[in-house]
Amino acid sequence: MSQTFTITVLPGDGIGPEVIEQAIHVLKAVEKLEDVTFTFEYARLGGCAIDEDGTPLPEETLEKARRSDAVLLGAVGGPKWDNNPAHLRPETGLLGIRKALGLYANLRPAFMLDCMVEVSALKEEVVRGVDLMVIRELTGGLYFGEKKRYKTENGEVASDELIYHEYEIERIVRRAFEVARLRGKKLTSVDKANVLESSRLWRKVVDRVAHDYPDVELRHQLVDSCAMELLRWPKQFDTIVTENMFGDILSDEASMLTGSIGMLPSASLADGNFGLYEPVHGSAPDIAGKGIANPTATILSAAMMLKYSFGMERAANAVEKAVHKVLNSGVRTADIAKSKEEAVSTKEMADKIIAAMHEVYVQA
Ligand code: IPM
Ligand code: MN
Repeated sequence: MSQTFTITVLPGDGIGPEVIEQAIHVLKAVEKLEDVTFTFEYARLGGCAIDEDGTPLPEETLEKARRSDAVLLGAVGGPKWDNNPAHLRPETGLLGIRKALGLYANLRPAFMLDCMVEVSALKEEVVRGVDLMVIRELTGGLYFGEKKRYKTENGEVASDELIYHEYEIERIVRRAFEVARLRGKKLTSVDKANVLESSRLWRKVVDRVAHDYPDVELRHQLVDSCAMELLRWPKQFDTIVTENMFGDILSDEASMLTGSIGMLPSASLADGNFGLYEPVHGSAPDIAGKGIANPTATILSAAMMLKYSFGMERAANAVEKAVHKVLNSGVRTADIAKSKEEAVSTKEMADKIIAAMHEVYVQA
């Protein structure tokens, strides 16, 4: 029997709508190759929602998302809204939807394809073969603890609380062990247990959960040392799990190992199969509307959606293979091209990927 999935599509701001359009083309190609039907429900998030609805996260958007099987997001933000107060900032919409939908597990792969080694700023021997996954806790910690701001006679004071409940640590750590088990069976838990109480609880929970995963090799590492080792010898890492803020920073660092943030996808998962999928890169307002953005990260995010939310492993692998084929054949968008002249457009890149997907299916 044919399966049907409803996808809430949030194009967002800047290059968001352009890269989303191409990811939708890829999903429509998947519909032709597999026995599946997708229903796309468009909604607003971020700056476009501030302009249209007066809030970065309209209730209607949340309702649509809750009724759907997964969410595909472009990017939010731009200079237009940079000086707005917190409740009218695009980022507030993004944090709000993560929290409201219970998307606590953020998976951020960073991989180096052989054909892309020259793009990295680091030495070839350091980056060739890098293939790691940062799993970031996404709905707790420093981002969501109590915020305070007050005045004293000695001037203003501000504070952000780093708070974790045991259950919040346990569920992300379990998810990380499960992911590590399907990858290289090596999990690095990153914390600052020499200083932070929240990290000491984190470590205790990790050690307890580890008993259920004797086949996964576990290592604890302090966040400063991890940041250093990521640059020195990234190939020692397979799966990394860490607190929200540490994960924000380390995943950006890891993305630069690959030299091309325009290529990296992400998944933000709730319990069960529901997830939100978005490229790691931002809204890139400087190149918005030009048709030159790299759609690869969004297309690979759609592939993660096929895998994690829809259980469509074969289709997900086909999209990934197609992306690798196209990059291997030297096709490049401007962000990864050697020269402007040889760069292809957003649409051309996606068209090549779709053509390669058909080849992958014919060969299979
Ligand atoms: C990310 C971004 C967001 C975050 C911002 C835009 C709120 O940097 O997804 O990593 O800090 O989580
Ligand atoms: Mn970030």
